[in-house]
This record gives sequence, structure tokens and C-alpha cells, in this order.
Amino acid sequence: MSIKLSTGFADNISNKETRNAVIKTVQVLAEAAKKIAYLCAHGPLLEGLGANTGANNADGDDQKALDIQSDEIIIALLKNAPVAYYASEEEEGINTLDPSAPICVASDPLDGSSNIDTNVSIGTIFSILPTMPGAAENSFFRPGKEQLVGGFFVYGPQTSLIITTGNGVELYVLEPKSKQFVLAIGDLQLATAKAEYAINAANARHWQPPIQNFINDCLAGVDGPLAENYNMRWVGSLVADASRILSRGGLFLYPADARTGYEKGRLRQLYEANPVSFVIEQAGGSATDGKTRIMELPLSDLHQRVGFVFGSKKQVEIVSHY
Ligand code: AHG
Ligand code: MN
Ligand code: MN
Repeated sequence: MSIKLSTGFADNISNKETRNAVIKTVQVLAEAAKKIAYLCAHGPLLEGLGANTGANNADGDDQKALDIQSDEIIIALLKNAPVAYYASEEEEGINTLDPSAPICVASDPLDGSSNIDTNVSIGTIFSILPTMPGAAENSFFRPGKEQLVGGFFVYGPQTSLIITTGNGVELYVLEPKSKQFVLAIGDLQLATAKAEYAINAANARHWQPPIQNFINDCLAGVDGPLAENYNMRWVGSLVADASRILSRGGLFLYPADARTGYEKGRLRQLYEANPVSFVIEQAGGSATDGKTRIMELPLSDLHQRVGFVFGSKKQVEIVSHY
């Protein structure tokens, strides 16, 4: 077994068939993550992990070799799990696995592709949803609040898993000796102390005025209206920024901006914003598109983008006032 799940994991899921399917699927995803972490650990010893394949995903992003390999690892293993449908950043449409199964998986198989060759943390994000009757899309075109599980693996100094089934957040670490994910923190709470924001400031000229005003006020520090000195961090891998914010607080922003293709933001609702929001809320933080709670937003396209602001409640609220 690749993961030693906590006693009582997913106990809040009342339907037994669904709960068992969730447990089995998380075990399978942990197995996949171990394989992806193993590939990542080679870096340049494995030639071309971060090389462009020449192909593009449904969103027009370049696909790197590790993007495709991670997707293949996940789908191959999910074939052994009670999963009806699988949707992925790397695939235009939905994969049908076992339509009679009670749950579905959406995934960003490799988050932070631009960091593959830089030895900076990257990860895998996933969302588990109940199977809905009718067409496969019905199971995915749901608001985030209907998720059964949200979580992400981080391939960094440690390989970790941060996961929620809607009953708090657990953090597991892949223990090097046993090669098994073991529980490290049973009730992860988002730290609130740090006045620190994460945004790709190279896009400042494209932001909408409220975001420009907010960041200018952060930069003004104690002398500005926020009356606080802010620090700044931007990893460029959502999983790493989210992991840092969970452990020491702060705020993440990837707002919609004026660039073509970014009018609705950059990050994808189904397999990036929804699962990360589920985790953040369960850890005591909040997640919005700048105004509305991400978990409430409807979805009508697998690869739909959304503006994304998350972190400590107080900081997210300040942004929505702007
Ligand atoms: P992906 O590698 O799955 O396409 O996701 C990359 C995302 C996210 O991880 C990160 O927060 C953001 O894109 C970085 O965007 P910039 O390149 O604009 O910094
Ligand atoms: Mn991503
Ligand atoms: Mn990706």
C-alpha cells in the first residue's frame, strides 16, 4: 500500500460504496504520485522531462514530456480503481473507465510545468466528484461544493499530500524509508499571521484597476491604507504557493486580466481552483474569484478558467472590498 490513511479517513462520506471507492481511489492516486515523484527526482538524469513535446493541451499550453507521462501514469492506475470518468488538463475530452462506478476524477497531472527543469516544487492536483446519471459531462459540470475530495501532491524537498474529504485537512508525507505516505498533520489549519502575497507582478499592466490598487497599497506598507508591511513570494507552481500559504499564511492572486485568453483568469476551475479551494476552506481560509466563493461557481466547460484569490480569510476579504 502506498499510503497509510488515517483511521476514520473519509468517515464523513455516509454512502458506504462511495466511501470505499474514495478510499481505493486515493490509494491509487498515491501510487501514481509515487511514480511521478520518482521520475521528478531524476531531474536532468532523465533526459527531456521538461522538454516541449511539440504538442499543445486543450488550452493551447505547450505540453512537456512530464505532463504527458504523468497523465499516462494516472490514467493507467485509475483503470484499477472504481472510477467512472477521468478528466485531465492534458486531454480535450473525458475518458470513460467504468461508467457503473460511483465516483469520477478530474486532475491537473503535473502542475507547475514551467518549473520541471528548475528543481523547484511541482505537483499533481485532483478533485473527486460523485458520478451523475446521463452524459459524462454531467458529473464534471458541477460547482466545487459538490466535490467529495480535493487534494494535491507536492513533489518538493518532501513529497507530500494535502487532502480533504470535507472534514478538515490532512497532510501526509512520503516517508523515504518506508516509501509510504504517512500522516504528518491530522488537522492542518491555515496559518493567519503572515502579511505576504503571491502574484505574477509581470502582468501588473494588464490587471484591472482594483487589483492594481490593492497591490499598490500592499507595496505602500505601513505608510499606506493597509498599514502593514507586506512580503512577496511567487513560485509559479500553484501547489507550492498553496502549500506555503497553508503552512505560514498569506494570499494568492491570479486574477483575470486584459490579455487575450486571460479575460477569465489563468487557472482552471475544475482541476486547479476547485480542489485547492476545497482544501483552503477546510483549513479555515477562503477562496474566491475576487468576489464570489469559487465553490459556488457553476461550470460549463472542462477547461474553464477562473480568476483565483485565496488565503487567510481576512486577506481574501480585503481583496473583495477592492
Ligand atoms: P500548469 O503547469 O498545470 O499549466 O499550471 C501552471 C499554473 C500554476 O501552477 C501557476 O500558479 C501559474 O500557472 C503560473 O503562471 P505564470 O506562468 O503566469 O507565472
Ligand atoms: Mn496547473
Ligand atoms: Mn498541469
